[in-house]
Amino acid sequence: MNIEVPNGMTRRQFITAGAAASAWLAMSKTGLAQAAAAAPPSDQVNVALVGCGDQGRVLVNACLKIPCVKFRAVCDIWPYAQRYGSRYLGKYGHETNVYADYREMLEKEKGLDAIICASPDWMHSPITCAALEAGKHVYCEKLMSNTVEGAKQMVLTQRKTGKLLQIGHQRRSNPRYLHAKNKIIDEAHLLGRITHASGQWHNVKKDDRTCAAKYELDEATLKKFGYDDMHQLLNWRWFKKYGGGPICDLGAHQIDMFTWFLNANPKAVIASGGIDYYKTHEWYDNVITVFEYDTKDGVARSMYDVLTTTGSLGFLEKYMGIEGSMVISEMPRWNQVFREKATAPEWTVWGEKGLVKRVEDTAAANAEEKKAAEVDVRLAASPPPETWEIPVLLDKPPHQPHLENFFEAIRKGAPLNCPAEVGYRSAVAVLKVNEAVVAQKRLEFKPEEYRI
Ligand SMILES: NC(=O)c1ccc[n+]([C@@H]2O[C@H](COP(=O)([O-])OP(=O)(O)OC[C@H]3O[C@@H](n4cnc5c(N)ncnc54)[C@H](O)[C@@H]3O)[C@@H](O)[C@H]2O)c1
Repeated sequence: MNIEVPNGMTRRQFITAGAAASAWLAMSKTGLAQAAAAAPPSDQVNVALVGCGDQGRVLVNACLKIPCVKFRAVCDIWPYAQRYGSRYLGKYGHETNVYADYREMLEKEKGLDAIICASPDWMHSPITCAALEAGKHVYCEKLMSNTVEGAKQMVLTQRKTGKLLQIGHQRRSNPRYLHAKNKIIDEAHLLGRITHASGQWHNVKKDDRTCAAKYELDEATLKKFGYDDMHQLLNWRWFKKYGGGPICDLGAHQIDMFTWFLNANPKAVIASGGIDYYKTHEWYDNVITVFEYDTKDGVARSMYDVLTTTGSLGFLEKYMGIEGSMVISEMPRWNQVFREKATAPEWTVWGEKGLVKRVEDTAAANAEEKKAAEVDVRLAASPPPETWEIPVLLDKPPHQPHLENFFEAIRKGAPLNCPAEVGYRSAVAVLKVNEAVVAQKRLEFKPEEYRI
């Protein structure tokens, strides 16, 4: 499954390999070609990709499975990435014009309906605003922008132009997350009042990205596009000018989920973080943060940590309520709903309706719990919960449903699952974490910070 690959895990692999194409390719070539051919021309959406790096490729692969999408152009400042993108698309029948500068592309490509922006975060706002002004719909990756001002400009330009702007928080279109939120939490209230959420994104230690000398961009071109050297271009995530560090890169996803599931924007944040391991980086390699919320049921708090020196348990979110709790992730293994036997009514009826699915606790596990509870009164006081699961699995690449939603919005007027205002509120919440690390104290959000 193609999931976020921060800090360039695959960069060297794809550079050295004519095998690069296979790194892109998680599905059969024939299947993709068929998908591309299936849409009648009237339904076709003509698209350009801006930023043909790791995530651009993930999005291309997801798009190749959506019949209405036709790529017409690719844009990247790096010839290596341009070639890669255009050749790859060519294999699937998408003949693309190639550009280094998005402004030139927007000027020349008159037939485009939409662009997909997977550039580094600092270019999201200029690229998106220019594309909207040129009359294109935009799917722009998260974090919406590395500055609140940049994100605000995107919302204002979207409103002014009336074009669609979807921000790439793809979990908002994931059927498992939709089921968890809409059915299990909102409809059946199986967790009761949610008092806490927690989440983590843990990545194993990684070296900085490098590339072979023959692929390096010359200094003048790098400078023209705002980078001092190749190291900055390849490792933009770690530089303050280009991104917001791991909390914005990875935490953005799950902090957005807290807001969605708790149905409330954070009202305050505290955080601790540091450059504790990668001494040459500008951004914190680990951040631990706590948000406070006023939900419709009362106060809630979330704990979140992003670590880049341990892969421990990967990435997941947890929602904890009086009557139950839920573990969920894009990683399929995190998919549990726990009924608190002491406080919750039976869930049999919800099992029959297909909202949750019972997982039988093994007899051995039950016997061990019982034995432990006999010798330790604390265990007896908090009986083990009953284990269920969310009976919905994603059978597509994780970004595909979010892209499908975007194209359905263009073609049929479907509502976007992550429109500009939603992406903006998320960016406001996430970007304040870095401020809180510096401030070393609790920072409050004013309600007007979320409004434009
Ligand atoms: N939704 C997700 O799951 C997810 C996962 C990974 C990354 N992302 C997001 O996708 C974006 C790209 O991340 P990535 O991992 O692919 O980075 P990357 O470094 O692999 O790719 C970025 C590409 O953009 C190109 N680029 C740089 N400046 C440009 C400009 N001015 N115009 C056009 N192209 C330019 C670079 O040459 C590079 O090829 C980021 O915003 C990141 O946060 C989202």
